[in-house]
Amino acid sequence: QLILDTLDEKSNIEDTRALTIPGQSQPATSHEDQITILGALNSLLSREMILYETHEVSSHALTVEGSQIVNEGSHEARVWAALPAKGEGSPLTPVQLKKQVGDETAKVGQGRAFKNGWIGKEGDGFIKLVSSVQDITQLDLKEIESTGTLKAGEKTLADLRKRKLIIQRKGQWFTVHKGSEFSTSTAKPETDLTADMLTSGTWKTSKFKKYNFDAEGAPTEGGALHPLLKVREEIRNIFLEMGFAEMPTSSFVESGFWCFDALFVPQQHPARDLQDTFYLSGDHNQHFESISHTDPKESLPPEPEYYKRVSTVHEHGGYGSTGYRAPWSRAESSKLLLRTHTTASSAHMLYKLAAKCRGEQVEGDAAEFAHGVSTTDGGEKRDAQDDGFRPAKLFSIDRVFRNETMDATHLAEFHQVEGVVANRDLTLADLIGFMRVFFNKMGIEKVRFKPAYNPYTEPSLEIFAFHPMLDRWVEVGNSGMFRPEMLEPMGFPKDVRVHGWGLSLERPTMIRYGINNIRTLVGHKVSIEGIENSPAVMF
Ligand code: PHE
Repeated sequence: QLILDTLDEKSNIEDTRALTIPGQSQPATSHEDQITILGALNSLLSREMILYETHEVSSHALTVEGSQIVNEGSHEARVWAALPAKGEGSPLTPVQLKKQVGDETAKVGQGRAFKNGWIGKEGDGFIKLVSSVQDITQLDLKEIESTGTLKAGEKTLADLRKRKLIIQRKGQWFTVHKGSEFSTSTAKPETDLTADMLTSGTWKTSKFKKYNFDAEGAPTEGGALHPLLKVREEIRNIFLEMGFAEMPTSSFVESGFWCFDALFVPQQHPARDLQDTFYLSGDHNQHFESISHTDPKESLPPEPEYYKRVSTVHEHGGYGSTGYRAPWSRAESSKLLLRTHTTASSAHMLYKLAAKCRGEQVEGDAAEFAHGVSTTDGGEKRDAQDDGFRPAKLFSIDRVFRNETMDATHLAEFHQVEGVVANRDLTLADLIGFMRVFFNKMGIEKVRFKPAYNPYTEPSLEIFAFHPMLDRWVEVGNSGMFRPEMLEPMGFPKDVRVHGWGLSLERPTMIRYGINNIRTLVGHKVSIEGIENSPAVMF
């Protein structure tokens, strides 16, 4: 209202520092006052009632110590005030002075009071030399407090700045003119056309607020993808653009047969040990009478002939292998467990992929993978007689479970990214070349391979990537060529080779988001806000 009334009277306001805000005794020269005025100006500007120009000035404000001097006097004045005049009492020793005015004031004030000729020495103590003093520092600071500057000039300001009594800051003041909608009434324009206005007819005379097309919209609240899902999507896209089809991986619960036996993992292998694998107890009937029938104790048996081929290659060998020559346990094979790797799902799919090679009619997923989506070249049967094999490139990204000691980088469940390529006459060089392309697409340019051991692949390779931030090589995955002991019982022709590789989804996600403790990514300590604000991932 003050701005509008002043404009009405004088047609413009040259300098808003000359205004006196209602309720104040001084003109609005302080920084805070101009901020208050700016708020009013912007509100009037949005209604086109005024126009204004901004002028920049540098102004000064008091520090905490500066304000204290305004209230209590400068250190030197306080020292002077504490001392007796000559002959009017015993001089104060430095120790007594400190006691009286405090360490800091005594230290700073003593020197300055001396320099000003306000105090002098008598014996071991100090006395007043003059009967009154003019506390220039306090006066200067008072002036700065109310005007933001000092008539005395920059030299004194610089000195006060050096003494940390004031700080410089950028200030603003404004010149104001009438706008196209100028009026002295601050009645708020209407923001909405209401049914009442329409029926009463007031809409004809009402003033409406203009749309502000530059206003930022209110942030919308919505769901957010977890970083793991964002990285999963990116990796999924890499697979898809390379012609891979996604495998179904919904079976978290697997049998010992599919998780291990079908992969030629010996039944006595340490990975099957209770240390690593979560077995299902199967004794739920005691606790949950009513649902006991939904909790099987063991898995359904696989197709008998395949089962026989698998148990035989374990126990006695075959397909050029000596086997493990250890007794076969049906119980071990039918145990139910939480899958320890998605290679269990790959085994299912490869078995289905080989269905035609076994002379079976195929439908559903297997038919799709065997005939529809595979795009690998060179799969055409070269013999006149079709043996039923079709090349395939398959992938999955899903959860696996291991009974690990949990620490900053390990949880008992994590996600595995897995790829499988099946074709005739693939070589180790194909696998390595493929890995390079795949990891390159993930932004990992330097990769190295190290011979490793997996019961189901030969040769096996661990994959290392150079981590520029850590400046060292880190393990990023495991890979290999599936063994004939695994592929041939499924029914694949002898010249079919299958590559596989796996990596965790968590590792690249943590690297991508610069997270070094997995608990910030998964579990009850995850910050929902962090998830909402996590950036998109693009490799
Ligand atoms: N299953 C392996 C793992 O859990 C990964 C892998 C998949 C290795 C396929 C070779 C072939 O580490």
